[in-house]
Amino acid sequence: MVREILIWPDPVLKQKAKPVAKVDDSIRTLVKDMFETMYSAEGVGLAAPQIGVLQRVIVLDTTHAQPELKPVAMINPEIIAMEGDTTYNEGCLSIPGESADVDRAAAVTVKFLDPDGNEQTLRCEGLLSIAVQHEADHLNGTVFVDHISSLKREFIRKRMKRLKTSREQGAPASP
Ligand code: NI
Repeated sequence: MVREILIWPDPVLKQKAKPVAKVDDSIRTLVKDMFETMYSAEGVGLAAPQIGVLQRVIVLDTTHAQPELKPVAMINPEIIAMEGDTTYNEGCLSIPGESADVDRAAAVTVKFLDPDGNEQTLRCEGLLSIAVQHEADHLNGTVFVDHISSLKREFIRKRMKRLKTSREQGAPASP
């Protein structure tokens, strides 16, 4: 089921998500919903807090840029190693239409549980590395605009306020 994505700023997006205690069918349903929501919004990553669920679950699909990889769901992801530096122009499904350069590690190694509850370790490079760091930030109440200048952040805040107002008023349907 496609779920509604919260738009920044939203108090839920500032909260720290809780670790998943048990990987069960409710978590697998959450993962399925998150993939459907991410694909419907044409994103490469989504974190559970973005659909209002404060649990440590993220989904990623960077296969358009990295066809050798597979879509991946990570439960309780933990970045255990970082290598090198890079800068990437990031966007976020919770901040539609905006992007900014963010400094990240070039490669990360992540430990997580898969949807079967098995522990996995994955070294991520390129776009997947960026996406994992971006989505792991969401689990700690951080969004990419927290990494940029306050001036640029305030411009984005104003544009998001206008976006929310126009959505609340309901834009007229175009023919
Ligand atoms: Ni995001």
